[in-house]
Amino acid sequence: MILSGLMEEPIVAPSLLSADFSDMRGALERVESSGADWIHFDVMDGRFVPSITFGPKMVGDLRPRTRLPADVHLMTLAPEDLVPAFAAAGADHITFHLEAAVHAHRLAELIRAAGVRPGVSIVPSTPASQLRELLPIVDLVLVMTVDPGFGGQVLIPSCLDKCAELSEERRRRGLSFLISVDGGVNAETIPMAARAGADVLVMGSAFFAAADPRAELERMRASYRAARFGT
Ligand code: DX5
Ligand code: ZN
Repeated sequence: MILSGLMEEPIVAPSLLSADFSDMRGALERVESSGADWIHFDVMDGRFVPSITFGPKMVGDLRPRTRLPADVHLMTLAPEDLVPAFAAAGADHITFHLEAAVHAHRLAELIRAAGVRPGVSIVPSTPASQLRELLPIVDLVLVMTVDPGFGGQVLIPSCLDKCAELSEERRRRGLSFLISVDGGVNAETIPMAARAGADVLVMGSAFFAAADPRAELERMRASYRAARFGT
């Protein structure tokens, strides 16, 4: 596992939510050829969030066609019911919402027991302090910087304060989870996210709108490094 805090590059995770759903293979090729690091699968159930996207079959059909890790973000009620199917489909990370989990500790352990890295996410109205008990047992904390449900929304800057808070808590407690930001991440907001200590940049609309995704990601990585490390 990459140790957070030692990374010199962000992990870039394009979200297939903004892809043309009639051409997922094309979207996968675009992600691969851009030099991105992970593929982010936004799973929406029409209950926890208003939209409905796709289920484990999408991950299962795409996973053998890529070397990139599948980063599954469950925006669903009863996330525990979906873990076996997404694990079997080849998910590398499964992130659930704290707001949808009654027994979050057990759920994180269930995900790990399935051979998958557990992550936990919070919506903008949930304070980072609610994650305190879970931080030692997750590999990823996904801080939503918009209310989940749709791509193309505007990042809520105050949510980034939670990244800074989590980054400080990680250092203080000697933990190693990664901090991911999701929602409204683009060339304009990346420097702020970098300064707040985000390690993983989930990006939907900004990635799929880029005319030259490889060149765009190179520029974004450079602006991240400059803002986070001054390099
Ligand atoms: C939002 C999803 C995000 C979304 C990000 O509900 O969790 O992953 O796809 O899209 P952009 O980057 O367009 O905000
Ligand atoms: Zn997401």
